[in-house]
Amino acid sequence: MNTSVSHNQRVLSGMRPTGLLHLGHYHGVLKNWIELQHSYECFFFVADWHALTTHYENPSIIAQSSIDMVVDWLAAGVNPGSSTIFIQSRVPEHAELYTLLSMITPLGWLERVPSYKDQQDKLKDRDLSTFGFLGYPLLQSADILIYKAGHVPVGEDQVAHVELTREVARRFNHLYGKEIDFEDKAQVAIKKLGKKNAKIYNDLKKRYQEQGDGGALSVGYALLSSQQNISLGDKERLIGYLEGGGRIILPEPQSLLTASSKMPGLDGQKMSKSYNNTIALRESPIQIEKKVKTMPTDPARIRRTDAGNPQKCPVWQLHQVYSGEDLKNAIIDGCTTAAIGCVDCKQHIIDAILTELKPIQRRAKDYQDDRSTVESILNAGCEAARDVARDTMEEVRKAMGITLR
Ligand code: TRP
Ligand code: SF4
Repeated sequence: MNTSVSHNQRVLSGMRPTGLLHLGHYHGVLKNWIELQHSYECFFFVADWHALTTHYENPSIIAQSSIDMVVDWLAAGVNPGSSTIFIQSRVPEHAELYTLLSMITPLGWLERVPSYKDQQDKLKDRDLSTFGFLGYPLLQSADILIYKAGHVPVGEDQVAHVELTREVARRFNHLYGKEIDFEDKAQVAIKKLGKKNAKIYNDLKKRYQEQGDGGALSVGYALLSSQQNISLGDKERLIGYLEGGGRIILPEPQSLLTASSKMPGLDGQKMSKSYNNTIALRESPIQIEKKVKTMPTDPARIRRTDAGNPQKCPVWQLHQVYSGEDLKNAIIDGCTTAAIGCVDCKQHIIDAILTELKPIQRRAKDYQDDRSTVESILNAGCEAARDVARDTMEEVRKAMGITLR
């Protein structure tokens, strides 16, 4: 059920600061964020508490990585003029919401999240049988819900976390979305729609609730989202009333799966720090050249005169990312007939990566040399994020009967 009508233009995503960003982050995540900035109100943040869940034993890299990561975001084209960029730990309201949500989250929901067991198995060298690690996805839910984000761009491994977030939001709304005078307030809000729309709304509500007509529900959402004259609170009340529930306080987010394919690493596996097959965004041109030149190729192509098969070569996978159709055809021809050598084939990739990274590295250097600009971007972002988070917390506290004064 779509219960995110009123806030669905807001996008939120986060990244854990655990080291320098590489081309996998750029192609897999950042390019998508940069694209989204044009059509959505975007919130991007450094998930430093999330990094602590797995790096609590040596947290020293987290602070430096946080700044490095923000510099890399900015250098890649995340635009502080159109996106809110901030640091999780500087918006402590996330922790308050996390605590309150923990009261209503069944333990089994967290134990069943696939990444819980997977990561414990994978990161055997660390003791991840902590409360913080179990709570990881719920902290993520708080990150998302506190901004009432409609869309959460994530990779496949994070979809289960967004799904948990939806369940927690649903449970929250079910438990606390009913105001004592909900019915009365809903009736007042209906009047504000005007005579004609009020009648349409009531008919749609009847059709959905009495005849189970799902189409009526979608028409109802559209009707409500087009209303200019009613407040957000009333809109949410009327969505809840239409669905037969209470008021929606925390809208359910959708995950926005990143369409872009997995960036191949230097060895043909997915590019990832744990495979040691990355090219960092800050890598020097000499280092990049060296890394590509020593990439493995089709193992059957031992001598320059042996024909090769691109399908068996990691360099070919990089051509899929970087080369146009003409060049790709020329590579297939040249490789399979031994007309070109691997050195030449790789040179195209080196050139393409250097061209791509040149402006990014230039901007990264500018930001590194000007820390005060980065700091003021973060200060402004944290303030803006906090304003939204504070508003949500006020509603949440009120709904749960916890008023601080
Ligand atoms: N868990 C995410 C990751 O590892 C990072 C993250 C934390 C996040 N909070 C979030 C992503 C909220 C999206 C929304 O990639
Ligand atoms: Fe790989 Fe290119 Fe060499 Fe063919 S020519 S084996 S595609 S590096």
